[in-house]
Amino acid sequence: MARKSVYTKEWWNAAFQGGVYPLTQLAALKDQVGLTRREVQGIKKLLNLPKGSKILDLGCGVGRHSLGLARHSYDVTGVDISNTFLRYARARARKMKLQVNFIRKDMRLLSFKGQFDAAINIFTSFGYFPQKSDDLRVARKVCKCLKPGGKFLLEIFNGTKIQKLLVNANSNREPVRRWYEFADRSLLLEHPSYSKRLGGTVTRWIYITKGKRKEVTSFTRAYSKSSLVHLLKNAGFRQVTVYGDLECSRYYPHKSNRLVAVATK
Ligand SMILES: C[S@@+](CC[C@H](N)C(=O)[O-])C[C@H]1O[C@@H](n2cnc3c(N)ncnc32)[C@H](O)[C@@H]1O
Repeated sequence: MARKSVYTKEWWNAAFQGGVYPLTQLAALKDQVGLTRREVQGIKKLLNLPKGSKILDLGCGVGRHSLGLARHSYDVTGVDISNTFLRYARARARKMKLQVNFIRKDMRLLSFKGQFDAAINIFTSFGYFPQKSDDLRVARKVCKCLKPGGKFLLEIFNGTKIQKLLVNANSNREPVRRWYEFADRSLLLEHPSYSKRLGGTVTRWIYITKGKRKEVTSFTRAYSKSSLVHLLKNAGFRQVTVYGDLECSRYYPHKSNRLVAVATK
């Protein structure tokens, strides 16, 4: 019988700071390197900003997109809660001789005012808080960070599709499980399920490294197109355009894997 997973309130500390979610190893996987390159191209195209524009990368992790955008001559600030990831990102910036301002901060506590041309939040780095009001708080803070006409690019999983997929898998008793093996032979097992009560995915991450097993359960709120657009407008954005991926494909509620929003202040 499947074990019931319960996430702790501030699960992101154990996952991202405490080393259960191995973003560094994940980012180094061959297919992820290609994905990062395509994502950076997509971000550039969607934002359509001149070189030197100021971009805030919110939940920047190990700097996959911050560094890619800095390489294309954007002035990037990366914000993340995990010192573990930020240390790695800073070391990579030094190695690549790139200038990025990496700052440790909880995204709910952003205090920039009107100084960025754009903000990005990529790879489902949004919707982690138990209270939906905290998601709104983040979106409002992002809106405040931007210059008038500035854009917020948000790229998350498509809540409508993931809900259907996980609920069907559960009723067919075919749990969705994925595993990754990294260069140092460590392993990550990912076991997501959908919680109707919480309105999002509850995922067990089990990381096995150097003979030790670490585990954390995460929560991510599932946004449909309408709930995301509603949240962004409520946060102060005047216009929101939605796509099915960073390559500007059309969004289909039951087909698209991703939900991408470009919100204009
Ligand atoms: C799935 S990772 C994605 C990282 C990066 N955007 C990428 O695509 O590689 C989510 C990131 O959000 C960060 N994060 C989680 N909660 C946060 C919070 N409250 N404030 C700031 N960053 C947070 C994590 O530390 C992690 O780096």
